[in-house]
Amino acid sequence: MTRAWTKSDWRAKPRVQMPDYPDAAALAEVEARLASYPPLVFAGETRRLRDQLAAVSRGEGFLLQGGDCAESFGEFNAVTIRDTYKVMLQMAVVLTFGAKVPVVKIGRMAGQFAKPRSAATETKDGIELPSYRGDIINELDFTPEARNPDPDKMLRAYTQSAATLNLLRAFSQGGYADIHRVHSWTLGFTDAADQDRYKDMANRISDALQFMSAAGLDSGRVHELNTVDFYTSHEALLLEYEEALCRIDSTSGLPVAGSGHMIWIGDRTRQPDGAHVEFAQGVMNPIGLKCGPTTTAEDLKVLMNKLNPENEAGRLTLIARFGAGSVGDHLPRLIKTVQEEGANVVWSCDPMHGNTIKSSSGYKTRPFDSVLREVQEFFEIHRAEGTVPGGVHFEMTGQDVTECTGGVRAVTDEDLSDRYHTACDPRLNASQSLELAFLVAEELAARGQSSTRAAS
Ligand code: PEP
Ligand code: CO
Repeated sequence: MTRAWTKSDWRAKPRVQMPDYPDAAALAEVEARLASYPPLVFAGETRRLRDQLAAVSRGEGFLLQGGDCAESFGEFNAVTIRDTYKVMLQMAVVLTFGAKVPVVKIGRMAGQFAKPRSAATETKDGIELPSYRGDIINELDFTPEARNPDPDKMLRAYTQSAATLNLLRAFSQGGYADIHRVHSWTLGFTDAADQDRYKDMANRISDALQFMSAAGLDSGRVHELNTVDFYTSHEALLLEYEEALCRIDSTSGLPVAGSGHMIWIGDRTRQPDGAHVEFAQGVMNPIGLKCGPTTTAEDLKVLMNKLNPENEAGRLTLIARFGAGSVGDHLPRLIKTVQEEGANVVWSCDPMHGNTIKSSSGYKTRPFDSVLREVQEFFEIHRAEGTVPGGVHFEMTGQDVTECTGGVRAVTDEDLSDRYHTACDPRLNASQSLELAFLVAEELAARGQSSTRAAS
């Protein structure tokens, strides 16, 4: 089937949260150059991810999506990427143990550069400048030059994404993620109690692998155990970049976003008639849609019909981000809408974006307790509704940062200044991420039990 949609249709729609580039000729040159470059991801990979997410929507898998709030040019190095990847592998092991189903791993990586902002400008000492919108658009320094949107930054973001993906592909396929190495993925600075729990789990996995090998099921040669699927994702905010990397899949003839495996629409850019929805509806990739307290049932209906008109399982992931204490006010009404429509979706929980506060020390932070509580509320409501809690979406890093308060190795308000490195929102550190994974694993074990009961 050929579609009437084209990759530039979004240009005729109202756009929000995008920069106005002052130099149209320079912008056009960058777009043309990007359009001639190879895509970063391939249609077959996005189809495979869609099939895996379809299993998640049925409760036969679980989604773990995580990474930086915003990648940056300054913090780009192999160690940072490796450590985030490592924590995600550890979390996935913990979750697989709890859920007894495969964990689909998607990084907020290799393209997560552009940021929506609550205000278009920032004022300091009486000087007003455009807000920082991520390294793909402008710079954090508070000068007029730094805040000027520069299209050349898209080329640098593309190059950095390609190098990041190269590393992720090597880790995933080159033996690093081999389950036989489950003991080696630990990071020195995570909490001792969580490390012990993890080691215990790793020992049990090693035992099982040795048993398989002794029984003649030579796990050493089983491809699935030696490699993992690891996918990339980002908010498709900067549509000039997205359009330039859009390609046609030679197998199906359908357009595919070549910038990342999954792209999502943010809570600030989900206007049903807006530019971002217009672009996302036309590409074949799995799409995420952030749902916040202001998401109405009416909008959700329209959005589900636009983004997934054929009701394909695995195409659409609804990422709930309401804030601890508010999940009960919103999730049940949106679950009802999904049920009334008979829509196939993955329900995922982002416990980060509804829980951002300003600490007494002046830093933007997120109390670990609120993050935890939102996850628990998400699971509780799905249990009550008999629906599938399909995944989690975290802002996290493998580094030992102090950006979110709390956790077993309690980070206090005063500690925030020690190692506060994020280019945007506060992230969970490695220790907090692992702690959260254990909690989610417990919830998932309970999910498994209730579905077994339902089936028997
Ligand atoms: C994000 O995921 O970084 C983000 C900005 O989220 P939201 O659109 O849900 O606020
Ligand atoms: Co964020």
